[in-house]
Amino acid sequence: MASFEGRDLISIRDLSRADIEAILDKARAMSDIPAEERRVLLRGKTMASLFFEPSTRTRTSFNAAMRNLGGWVEGFADPKTSSVSKMESLWDTIKIYDGYGYSVFVIRHPLKGAARLASDAAKAPVINAGDGANQHPTQTLLDLYTIQETQGRIDGLRVGMVGDLAHGRTVHSLTQALLKFKGVDLYFVSSRALKMPGHLVDKCRARSEGVCEEVSRIEEVIGDVDILYMTRVQKERFGGDQALYEKVKNIYRLSSDMLVGVRENLKVLHPLPRVDEIATDVDNTPYAYYFQQARNGLRIRETLLALLTGALT
Ligand code: CP
Repeated sequence: MASFEGRDLISIRDLSRADIEAILDKARAMSDIPAEERRVLLRGKTMASLFFEPSTRTRTSFNAAMRNLGGWVEGFADPKTSSVSKMESLWDTIKIYDGYGYSVFVIRHPLKGAARLASDAAKAPVINAGDGANQHPTQTLLDLYTIQETQGRIDGLRVGMVGDLAHGRTVHSLTQALLKFKGVDLYFVSSRALKMPGHLVDKCRARSEGVCEEVSRIEEVIGDVDILYMTRVQKERFGGDQALYEKVKNIYRLSSDMLVGVRENLKVLHPLPRVDEIATDVDNTPYAYYFQQARNGLRIRETLLALLTGALT
């Protein structure tokens, strides 16, 4: 297995299929480590948690991962509490933290490319916890873990992605990851204003195997897919065009009556938070899996922290 010690995780493109499979295998094997060893796996390791954008799941699960494995966390959940509010640059902020000897950085930032810039400034490994509409690789790893957990495989599955495919970093990363697997049929469900970026659709269509279709209604795919990946329309990415956001925000809404006649193995995933795109009456159906999906983030993030800091090989 390739060594992950000291590596950055900025984009899912940084990982080969073999890398992804190795990480998923390691995550599954975490529960085989005796509890007394797991509790001290990251003893002496420190994580700088720098969140320039709000987060519940990503930030908390990284913190919980460090807590569970005996590590230590410092940083900020709101940049207003740091000297970023005095116009200190990202580069200088990372240089300062790096000088204080952290073992690993976890950074979320509204700008595409910010995590890559941070990795150039830092000696310690940097994990991208989301950079604008670009990438969210740790979300993708937990998505793949969840897909494998529920379907037993990734190759050959039928996956529908619904909603804000234009701005959703989770669906951009997930699409790039699924293209590394064999014959995954991809259905992109969106309105014209929310379409998947053309370069990703082109890559999807350039494969020798696997369907790639763009459609506008959930009903066109819901009966055929194994995974229905819902997403929130990302208000914060519409900038000055809030009129457009208001127009498109409620286009997609999954409710339990739409799940009649779907495949038995269908699982509905969502990176969360949700607003109105999944009605709460879906939560108690056998298809809803988004809360388990979020829980899987803890296992994936424990594994990544241990691999990148060299605590696990
Ligand atoms: N899925 C996800 O990134 O959630 P948070 O924004 O709450 O971290």
